[in-house]
Amino acid sequence: MGSAGKSDTYDGKGKRLYIVTYGCQMNDRDSEALAGLFLDRGYEMTEIVESADVILINTCSVRDHAENRAISFAGSLKEIARHKDTRHTSHEERTTPIKPIIGLIGCMARNRGEDIFQKMPHIDLIVGPAHLDKIPDFVDEIRNPKHEIRKRIIQIEDEERSEALYHPLFRVEPGHAQIVISTGCSNWCSYCVVPHVRGPLRLRTPQDIIEEVKRNVDAGIKKVTLLGQNVNDYEYTSHVTGHTTHVVNFVDLLKEIDKIDGVEELSFITNNPKNTSKELFEVMAHSPKIVKHLHMPFQSGSNRILELMNRGYTREKYLQLAEEYKKITGGTLGTDVIVGFPNEAEKDFLQTEDLMRRVRFKCAFIFKYSPRPGTKAAGMPDDVTEVEKKRRHAVLLEMQKKISKENYTG
Ligand code: 5AD
Ligand code: SF4
Repeated sequence: MGSAGKSDTYDGKGKRLYIVTYGCQMNDRDSEALAGLFLDRGYEMTEIVESADVILINTCSVRDHAENRAISFAGSLKEIARHKDTRHTSHEERTTPIKPIIGLIGCMARNRGEDIFQKMPHIDLIVGPAHLDKIPDFVDEIRNPKHEIRKRIIQIEDEERSEALYHPLFRVEPGHAQIVISTGCSNWCSYCVVPHVRGPLRLRTPQDIIEEVKRNVDAGIKKVTLLGQNVNDYEYTSHVTGHTTHVVNFVDLLKEIDKIDGVEELSFITNNPKNTSKELFEVMAHSPKIVKHLHMPFQSGSNRILELMNRGYTREKYLQLAEEYKKITGGTLGTDVIVGFPNEAEKDFLQTEDLMRRVRFKCAFIFKYSPRPGTKAAGMPDDVTEVEKKRRHAVLLEMQKKISKENYTG
């Protein structure tokens, strides 16, 4: 074997961690928090999957594209698992499992459960979004030499997360803390799998959130982003004494965090238009720390489709909010749009196009509708053809490119 260094030799006990993340900013933050837990246990990160001792695939179920990419990556690891198995070192190590431990975690784990074990024999761990903090212990358990046969672990029940996940200070982008304020969602937009896989809306307490911000500021962090599927849904009720209650809503929370010395740049994502308030715009306008950009997805410009999507607002309300926002804050807007939702006719699409033309977003993420199993929309006929979805997608993309160029460059 010559003089292969430590990084070339796989011994089955090593502490090299590789994490790949699919999907949204929330998933990026989950992976970062999880990496922090491993780093605190003496692991190091590797960008070379072949050299990893633990490989974690943090998955997203929001669109089929993200799911397919994760499945294909997980499938490709079959070779690595086999390859590693033949790299023996000493006799003693040959008797311990030397394949890397491979975990499929996050939304797809919850969504597909045991099915993943059936289809992918090389996967050792399936862990849903509620149990990420337990993964380092699960890895230790799988490695425990007392098991003669390599153990597989699955933990996918939906429950409240442990605060332990948020304790490590590791940050992928130095100086930037992304802080989860809530998990799950109870809005039940008809196309969306999030309430199914991430569970109902659950709030972290204002104290826990503020303490996490302060811990980060003490570590020198100046930039903070608050994360929630819909941050406007944040409304924490605490019982002060007896019958007296105290309510902290998102705007209150934002004001509290804005006051923290050391926070120099503050942003948040995402805001559902159905409960975005003028009060929020005023707080944004008055704070020099708050970034003047609002990611407020409109999804469709057609009232008929918005109703079918169960979004809880109309195009008129959206346009009014967008105008108020610009007037009060002078800021920019971002959005998500879905084309080809069931029953979306040309005239509905033209309304979406029209809304985009009027609002002139700084950035727009445009998606082709894909049915998500278990959602209400999956029960509607997916009747816009793939060709037509692609065409509508291309039309909006082209228009957005033009707007970005005309309004937001130079
Ligand atoms: N099909 C296409 N796009 C979807 N999104 C959510 N669910 C679906 C789906 N089934 C998009 C929405 C959302 C973003 C995160 O993903 O635009 O805002
Ligand atoms: Fe999904 Fe709607 Fe909740 Fe956003 S607000 S996560 S689109 S259900």
